[in-house]
Amino acid sequence: MALDFDYLAQQKQNADKACERLANAQTPFVRNCWYVAARADEIGTEPFVRTLLGSSVLLFRKRDGTVVALQNRCCHRSFPLAEGRFDRDRDTITCGYHGLTFDCTGRCIGVPMQEQPPRGIGVRSYAVVEKAPLVWIWGGDPASADPAAVPHPEWLGSAEWDYYIGYLNPRGSYVHLHENLLDLSHLSFLHATTFGTPEYAVAPCETRVEGMDIEVWRHVECRLPAIYARPLGWEGMRAMRHSGSRFVTPGLHVNTGMLENLELPPDRQTPQPMIKVAQLLTPEAPLSTHYYYCVCRNFAVGDRAVTEFMFNAQMAAFGEDAYALERLSQMQAQEDPEFFYEISIPTDRAGLAMRQHLKRLADAERAHEPRRGARTGTAA
Ligand code: FES
Ligand SMILES: [Fe+2]
Repeated sequence: MALDFDYLAQQKQNADKACERLANAQTPFVRNCWYVAARADEIGTEPFVRTLLGSSVLLFRKRDGTVVALQNRCCHRSFPLAEGRFDRDRDTITCGYHGLTFDCTGRCIGVPMQEQPPRGIGVRSYAVVEKAPLVWIWGGDPASADPAAVPHPEWLGSAEWDYYIGYLNPRGSYVHLHENLLDLSHLSFLHATTFGTPEYAVAPCETRVEGMDIEVWRHVECRLPAIYARPLGWEGMRAMRHSGSRFVTPGLHVNTGMLENLELPPDRQTPQPMIKVAQLLTPEAPLSTHYYYCVCRNFAVGDRAVTEFMFNAQMAAFGEDAYALERLSQMQAQEDPEFFYEISIPTDRAGLAMRQHLKRLADAERAHEPRRGARTGTAA
C-alpha cells in the first residue's frame, strides 16, 4: 500500500508541534550542571586540553596537586594558552604569542611593556571538583557552583564494588545519547550479538516520571548474555535480569542491573549479583559527546581476568551505541527539513520526558542570561 501523503503531512505537523517542547541536537547546552571533564589520572602537571560545552578548556594540576580548569583561548588574540610557558614555581602561564601572564584563577597578572596589567581582564576559570576516579567541572558561572551537589555516586570507587572505566567520543548529541540510555528496548536489535537478548524488546516496562526524576525498569526472563553469564558461571541457565535506567542530571545517567538465577537456590546467589553503571555524558559540541562509563559490579571483586573480559565485551556493545548515534545524527542532518519528522512510540515515554526537561532547563538558562554577543574591546 502506498503512503498517504496527506496523512503524512498531518503527521509531520503534529510531530513538529510536539518537538517544539523537546530538546534536540540544536538546543543550547544546559550549562548549570556538573559534568565529568576527565578521569582524574588523565590530568597531571602537563596541560590537558579538551573541548567541553563548545569551549576549549585547559586542565592541569598546580604544585599542590589541585586541578585547575581555565579557558584555553587567550583573551588577547585567542592563541591557545596550553602552548604557552608554565612557571611551576609560581603556578602561572605566559601566553606563547604576546606574553600576557595569567594566574590559576585566570586573572591576567602581567602584560609586557605595561607596569600594571589592565584591571579586570583575564580568561574564564571553571569550578572543579576531583572525586576519584573522576574530575567534575561546572559548566556555568563558578559563583553558582555548589561542590556538595556533585552527583558522584557513592558506590563508584567504594571497596565493595569493583569497576572499570571506558571512554567513547561519539559523533552525536548528548540529548540522543540520554535517550538511548533511557530506552533499552534497543538491546534486542542494536546489541543482538553483544549484550542484548530477544526478550528485551517485548518485556513490559515500568516508567516513572516525577518531575525531573525519570526512571524505567524492565524485568526480563532470559539466558544472560556472556558478559554477565560467564563471570557468574551461569552460562545456559535461566535468569531474571532486572534492568533500571535513571536520568539523574544532564551529565549523569545510572543503569542498574540486578541478576537472579532461576535454577540455583537463593543461598547460592548471595549477595545478589548487581551491576551499576555511571553513564557520564558531557557535550563536546552539538554533534559530539564525551562519554565515560564506569561499570561497577559487586561480584568477582578483584578478579582482573573478569574485569578484562567485561571491559572488552562492554566496549564492543557501547561501540554499537556510538555507531547508532553517529548514523542517526548523519541521517537527521542530511534530511530535507520539509520532509523530516520522527514519530514516537510508547517505549519513548521516558526519553520524551527527559528531552522536555532538558529543553526547559536550557530555555530557563537563556531567559536568565545577560545578552550574549561577540565582545571586543580595549583594556589599556
Ligand atoms: S594572544 Fe595571548 S598574548 Fe596575545
Ligand atoms: Fe545500547
